[in-house]
Amino acid sequence: MIETERLLIRKFKPSDAEDLFEYLSLPEIYRFEPGEPVTMQEASDLATERSDADNFLAVVLKSSAKLIGHLYFEQRQPPEFRTWEIGYIFNPAFQRLGYASEASAALVDYAFNNLHPHRIMARCDQTNPASWKLLEKIGFTREGAFKQFAYFRTDEAGNPFWIDAFEYSKLEQGI
Ligand SMILES: CC(C)(COP(=O)(O)OP(=O)(O)OC[C@H]1O[C@@H](n2cnc3c(N)ncnc32)[C@H](O)[C@@H]1OP(=O)(O)O)[C@@H](O)C(=O)NCCC(=O)NCCS
Repeated sequence: MIETERLLIRKFKPSDAEDLFEYLSLPEIYRFEPGEPVTMQEASDLATERSDADNFLAVVLKSSAKLIGHLYFEQRQPPEFRTWEIGYIFNPAFQRLGYASEASAALVDYAFNNLHPHRIMARCDQTNPASWKLLEKIGFTREGAFKQFAYFRTDEAGNPFWIDAFEYSKLEQGI
């Protein structure tokens, strides 16, 4: 459990299903992400699955205990590189209020203080300013720009819609 001024960051619970459905059912959430809108049953399965997992963390408002988004945080291979990747998706009704950067900054601080990472990195679509501005706001540095780095969707003939990506990172302090 990580606490900030307005938020708690904790493991998922099966009872988060309804709040999770509220935003994972919206097409706009997937503009820069793989996946597609989920049903209530799928949201319920995901909330249960994630309550047993370490790589997804629920972000809830302290004032109402409502789940407003989640963070992804996972160690990359090989383990001796001590590199972790961060990601985030927030409910549009709670975006642009600083919650995503408040939660991400707190998780990054927690990780540097407790997990001994060398590098925490993130990748985002170059046309997703919400993501790269968040990263710059919490002290990440743009280290790379990649052309046609990945694709999440194809046209009807199966041709990829390639995306250009930025990679950002924050290194352990003093380096
Ligand atoms: C990325 C995301 C989590 C950011 O959430 P948020 O609630 O807007 O984040 P914050 O309020 O902490 O804002 C972070 C910064 O981005 C800026 N920002 C947010 N949305 C923006 C937009 N659409 N255009 C330009 N800047 C934007 C904010 O102004 C803020 O910068 P500032 O404080 O210097 O002004 C949210 O947009 C989201 O969930 N998007 C859908 C999923 C997604 O794309 N995830 C990232 C995949 S890499």
